[in-house]
Amino acid sequence: MTAFSKSDFGPGFSWGVATSAYQIEGAVSEDGRSPSIWDTFSHTPGKIKTGENGDVACDFYHRYQGDIAFIRQMNMQVHRFSLAWPRILPGGTGPVNPKGLDFYHRVIDRTLELGLKPWVTLYHWDLPQVLEDKGGWTNREIVSWFGEYVEVCARAFGDKVKHWMVLNEPTVFTALGYMQGKHAPGRKGLGNFLPAVHHAAMAQAEGGRILRANVKDAQIGTTFSASYVEAAGPTWLSRAAAASYDAVVNRLFIEPALGLGYPWKAAPFLLALKRYIRPGDMEKLAFDFDFIGLQTYFRQQVRFDPLALGTFAREIPHAERGGELTEMGWEVWPENIYLLLRQFSAYKGVKRILITENGAAFPDTPQGERVSDPQRLKYIQDHLAQVLRAKREGVPVEGYFYWSLLDNFEWAEGYRPRFGLVYVDYPTQKRILKDSGRWFGEFLAN
Ligand code: FCB
Repeated sequence: MTAFSKSDFGPGFSWGVATSAYQIEGAVSEDGRSPSIWDTFSHTPGKIKTGENGDVACDFYHRYQGDIAFIRQMNMQVHRFSLAWPRILPGGTGPVNPKGLDFYHRVIDRTLELGLKPWVTLYHWDLPQVLEDKGGWTNREIVSWFGEYVEVCARAFGDKVKHWMVLNEPTVFTALGYMQGKHAPGRKGLGNFLPAVHHAAMAQAEGGRILRANVKDAQIGTTFSASYVEAAGPTWLSRAAAASYDAVVNRLFIEPALGLGYPWKAAPFLLALKRYIRPGDMEKLAFDFDFIGLQTYFRQQVRFDPLALGTFAREIPHAERGGELTEMGWEVWPENIYLLLRQFSAYKGVKRILITENGAAFPDTPQGERVSDPQRLKYIQDHLAQVLRAKREGVPVEGYFYWSLLDNFEWAEGYRPRFGLVYVDYPTQKRILKDSGRWFGEFLAN
């Protein structure tokens, strides 16, 4: 029993799950799909901790009918998934692949047939490799390459899909992919990171404008990764380090979208972005999003470190804080989601917020036809209690999408961390609804 019920969240609150194409689809060479940067990266020795790749993943490409039915079974209404750019435009730009569009028409139709709403993410990190070969996000031309792709999707699916998210977590794909080299395409350094940031921020707003022009009655959003940031000590230096870290982790993409520009006062190294900004760009960074998607898993505590170039902030390892850790090594601290909802709702231009991702990986072991996952269930319930706390205080939070529907390919971590409400036995592709998923079914039943 929880201290709250579905009705406490109100009738307009959306309940759902989130996935992304590369993490679940598999079928990487089927029906004309071209390689993405994640195919290249995962096939490069040493990049994925377990040596695995997304070639087969959850085989969602062939099993989507049954998989989407689990969402219905859990009494949710929203199926958030992403479109794979290399399936739809295998050349990155240019001729459309009809078989790529067909696949997503089938996914959307199945979603609608079950009475669910499709919420579509346009870019969840699987850039066509052909475009990375031309510089990827560091090449300013990506703004028009992306625009072409968005227009194709908006025209193809706009009659059936009314909820759109332009980018998934631009801070994460630029920082891990173009600064730290831990994610595809594995590039490093400010010389890659800063142009990638500016071009992604331009594409974020441009994508919004193209959706607005092409989809009638669209609800247009985009998603941001977020972590509540705390200074580890009371000193001025420690607080300044926390502020600059917060600027990069939480403010870097939302503020330009809101017309506030980049947060360079708190993080002066971002002034180097000016090298990539052309006259007229600052105005084009703004777009009036109908909602924002917040995605959060943990808080960060940071301390001042003169050697941490850029932010001068060093993260305190989660394991040193003494709290419960997930399979990702992430600290479980539910108040994080409440504090972030407060922080992001304080922006004047933010109208509605949805939690478009939140969830936890724990080692799950099936026992016959059951998977008992009490830690995940507690994680969900404790986070929902904090969402409700924010909502009761007036934060316009209107939905919660659990990450993820299925256990899946967790990027550089491989298949080891299991985030799903549905267990996937990879060798047989057998699925089992975990106890946390069964709980959703009961909690959301009318
Ligand atoms: C988010 C990503 C998602 C998944 C979760 C665990 O940052 O958007 O694809 O990897 O983390």
